[in-house]
Amino acid sequence: MLEKLNKIEKTALESLAAVTDEAALEAWRVANIGRSSPVMNVFSQMSGLSKEERPLVGQRANQVKTALEQAFAARAEVVKNAALSKSLQEERLDVTLPGRPARRGGLHPATVTLRRMLGILAEMGFQVYTSRDVETDEMNFQALNFPPHHPAREMQDSFYIEAGERGDNPLLMRTHTSPGQIRAMREFSGANPENPPSIRIALPGMCYRYEQITARSEVQFYQIEGLAVGENITYGDLKGTLADFARRMFGEHAKVRFRASYFPFTEPSAEMDVECFVCGGKGCAVCKNSGWLEILGSGMVHPNVLQNGGYDPRRYTGFAFGMGPQRMTMLQHRMNDIRYFWGNDIRFLEQF
Ligand code: PHE
Repeated sequence: MLEKLNKIEKTALESLAAVTDEAALEAWRVANIGRSSPVMNVFSQMSGLSKEERPLVGQRANQVKTALEQAFAARAEVVKNAALSKSLQEERLDVTLPGRPARRGGLHPATVTLRRMLGILAEMGFQVYTSRDVETDEMNFQALNFPPHHPAREMQDSFYIEAGERGDNPLLMRTHTSPGQIRAMREFSGANPENPPSIRIALPGMCYRYEQITARSEVQFYQIEGLAVGENITYGDLKGTLADFARRMFGEHAKVRFRASYFPFTEPSAEMDVECFVCGGKGCAVCKNSGWLEILGSGMVHPNVLQNGGYDPRRYTGFAFGMGPQRMTMLQHRMNDIRYFWGNDIRFLEQF
C-alpha cells in the first residue's frame, strides 16, 4: 500500500507539470484529488488493512493528499498568471487611437429665453408658480370674466377635449397662462380666507391655440404670466415693474410705451411696446417702420377676477401681465419664422 501511494504521488506530480491551461487543470483536479481519485480510493480501502498497517498507510495517504493539494494550488497560480500575461500581451489596447467625438447638445433657444426671463422676474421678487396645461372652460374663460358667448373668446380659438360631455364646462388645452391666476389666487386665499396673503408670481407654461400654422402663428407656444395682488397696488406699480423688467431684459436704456388695450380680465388694460432695438426707433422691417415692438399685454386685475379668486376687490388690487418668450427670442435673433421653434431642424438648433 505504501508503495502504491508513492507511485500515485509520483505519477500525479509528473502529469501536473504538463498542465498549462485552465481546462487541463480542472481535469487534473478531478482525476487526482477528486472524490474517486486514486488517493481517495486508498482511504476507502483502509478497512481491509491490518491494525499495524492502518496508521502508517493513513498517515502516508494524508501526506500524499496534502502534497497533491498544495502542488495543485501552486500550479493553479502559475496557470492563472500565464493566462493573464498572455491576455495582456494579446489583447493590448492601442490607447493612441483617437476617440469618437460625442455630439454635445444644448438648451433650446426658447428655453434659454424662458429661463432668462424667469431669472429677471425672480430678482424682482416674482416666484415661479406652475399650473396645468389641460383646463376647464371655467378657469380658462368664465372665471377670467369672459361671459359664455362673449366675442372675446374668439380672440383665442381653442382645442377642446371631450366637448359636449361636460355641459358648459368642457375641458380644453389652455389658450393662455391666465387661468393660472385663478388657480394661484384660490390656492392662496383658500389657505386663509379671512386674510388672504399678497401674491407675486411668475407663471410659465405652454399654451395652445387652434390656429392656422404660419410664419407668424403656431398652435403651441410659451407664455409667462405675471401676477401681483395685494393692498394698495396701483397702476403706477404696473408701469414701474414692467419698465424695470424691460431695462433688465433689453438694457438700461430701453424705452417703453404703454398703449390702451382690452382684455376681459384686466381693467384698465394696456399693451407695452419697447423701442425697436434693431433700428433704435428710426423704423425698419422688423418694427414695420413704427419704431416700436409690442412685447406684452397687461392690466389691473378686474374686480370680478379678484372676487373669483377669493380676494375681496374692495380691499385688494393687483396687476397682471402676459408675455411670449418666443416672440422675444425672435426679435432678439431676427428670426422671421416662428415654425423654426418646433421644427426640430438641427441646422437651426445648432446656431444657439
Ligand atoms: N392672457 C393674455 C393673452 O394671452 C395676456 C395677458 C395676461 C393680458 C395678463 C393681460 C394680463 O393674450
